[in-house]
Parts: sequence; C-alpha cells; structure tokens
Amino acid sequence: MLRLAMKLYTVLLAVLVATAAADSVTDELEKNGLPVGLLPNSVKSYSISKDGVFTLSLDGPCYAKIDDQLAYYSQNITGKLKYGAISNLDGIETKQLFVWLPVTGIYVDVPATPYIYFEVGVLTKRLSLAVFETPIKCNGHHTETLPGVHIPSWVANVGGSRPRKALE
Ligand SMILES: *[C@@H]1O[C@H](CO)[C@@H](O)[C@H](O)[C@H]1NC(C)=O
Repeated sequence: MLRLAMKLYTVLLAVLVATAAADSVTDELEKNGLPVGLLPNSVKSYSISKDGVFTLSLDGPCYAKIDDQLAYYSQNITGKLKYGAISNLDGIETKQLFVWLPVTGIYVDVPATPYIYFEVGVLTKRLSLAVFETPIKCNGHHTETLPGVHIPSWVANVGGSRPRKALE
C-alpha cells in the first residue's frame, strides 16, 4: 500500500514538474513577444540563463505539421532567447522538398506585424503568426513525417553570412 502511494506520489510529482516546465516556457515566450505555439506541448524540463541561453527537453522527439510545413523537434533543443527573436537555435528542423533542414533562428517584427520569420539554411520563410497561437501537438505516426535526409545545422550555417532571400 505504501509502495503504491509512493509510486502515485512520484507520478503526480513528475506530472506537476512537467506542467510547471511547460508553463514557464510558455511564459518565457510570451514575455519575449513570441507566440506560444512555437513549441510542442510536451516540454519536460527547461532552463534559461541570464543572457537568454536556454536548454529544453521534450518527452521525446516530435514530428508535427504546421500550416502545411512538416517540422521535427528533437528531444533536446537549445538556443538564445531575446525580445522578439530566438537565435543559435539547434534541435528544430523543417522538411523542404526532400530534405530536412535545420531552423537556426526565429523572429518577429518589433513592433509586431501579423508575421513570423524562420531562418532555414540561407532562406528566410515567412508564416502567419496566427498559425502559432496554441502549443504544437506532436504526431509521430503520420506517414508524411517519416524522416528523410537530415542536414546538420553546421552544414546549413556555412552559408549563414550571405544575404538572405525571402521565401513566401
Ligand atoms: C537530451 O538531454 C538529456 C539530459 O541532458 C540526455 O540524457 C539525453 O540523452 C539527450 N537526448 C538526446 C536525444 O540527445
């Protein structure tokens, strides 16, 4: 009986910690003028330093379809958060044609417009902010989301200093 109670307590505690992590990430995004729908709802733990460098862990890898774009979130995501932008992002990819490309940065206009921008390799993709109003639901079993070729971020970043072309 005690064993069971302890087990339940542990499960409850884990759920509470997970909820707190998800809440604090949500708060952090809102505080920085970014939509809460940038991340999956499966954030397990989260930490951010004073200068905005963050690490977050999800329950597991996550595939999702966002406004007809396929996205992949690895279990651990790192980056640097400041008002209106995330830079040095590592752990999020999007499928363009047949290859998965890393999303290395995300930003919104300040002051706000209805748009959000994603730096994908040397391209910047513009999407509607309205798409990101609620946290992403992972869909690991969608046939369209089967992994293709993954390009690591250090490869995609080689061209990072070139002028970016807007892709809409
Ligand atoms: C994610 O980070 C955790 C804790 O640092 C580590 O144990 C785990 O192996 C990492 N997962 C991946 C897929 O790198």
